[in-house]
Amino acid sequence: MNDNYKTIAALAAQVKGFLAEDEGETLYALTLEAAKLGPCIEIGSFCGKSAVYIGAACQEKGVTLFTIDHHRGSEEQQPGQLYFDAQTYDEKSGEINSLPLLRDTLRTAGLEDTVAPLVTWSKVAVKNWATPLGLVFIDGGHSYESALNDYQCWSRCLLPGGFLIFHDIYMDAAKGGQAPRQVYEKALQSGDFDQLPMVNTLGILRKRDIVVVEKKVCC
Ligand SMILES: C[S@@+](CC[C@H](N)C(=O)[O-])C[C@H]1O[C@@H](n2cnc3c(N)ncnc32)[C@H](O)[C@@H]1O
Repeated sequence: MNDNYKTIAALAAQVKGFLAEDEGETLYALTLEAAKLGPCIEIGSFCGKSAVYIGAACQEKGVTLFTIDHHRGSEEQQPGQLYFDAQTYDEKSGEINSLPLLRDTLRTAGLEDTVAPLVTWSKVAVKNWATPLGLVFIDGGHSYESALNDYQCWSRCLLPGGFLIFHDIYMDAAKGGQAPRQVYEKALQSGDFDQLPMVNTLGILRKRDIVVVEKKVCC
């Protein structure tokens, strides 16, 4: 990997989040490829760990990364739950608010000219979305309903050759929740994607080109 990548990885290591370094490196490399097709999107940015890797590659290629997060935290990040982090809790509103931490990350990483945060629910952001995408990274809500909604809504916007990437795919149920895996397998069964080798918990699919069957007129 190039020197830019080393700087990015060192920076990302300082950011709170749920992404392993080999997953970040893969996101960076795939984004360099995907950004030749169009802009990229991630659902679930939290404090910006994955956004640093994807955003840095977008910046190199001159395209935008849209990050979608309501910043109120997923079910497992709420007070009393396994992944609750007191630094993300806003006493005034009595809610999680990870937006200030995302903004700090983007400022520190010099990515404010490239990453456009959409502070809303995935289903709201997609409503009038009309821009074809080179990459969709799904790491928002981890319930079946939420992951399925993200897959069904956003994969439609992917360009042929674009990447659909799921985080937290656990082949062993003892290691993690199975809802993202069930949705990943549903995507595979659709026949719309080619499967690439997994990297840690990243499930990576590539949208197939549309095959145009020429009609022959018999005379
Ligand atoms: C696992 S965290 C994302 C981690 C991040 N990708 C990283 O690298 O650290 C999941 C995030 O998804 C957000 N989220 C959950 N459901 C969502 C939804 N339906 N729409 C938008 N954001 C959602 C939560 O607020 C939370 O910040």
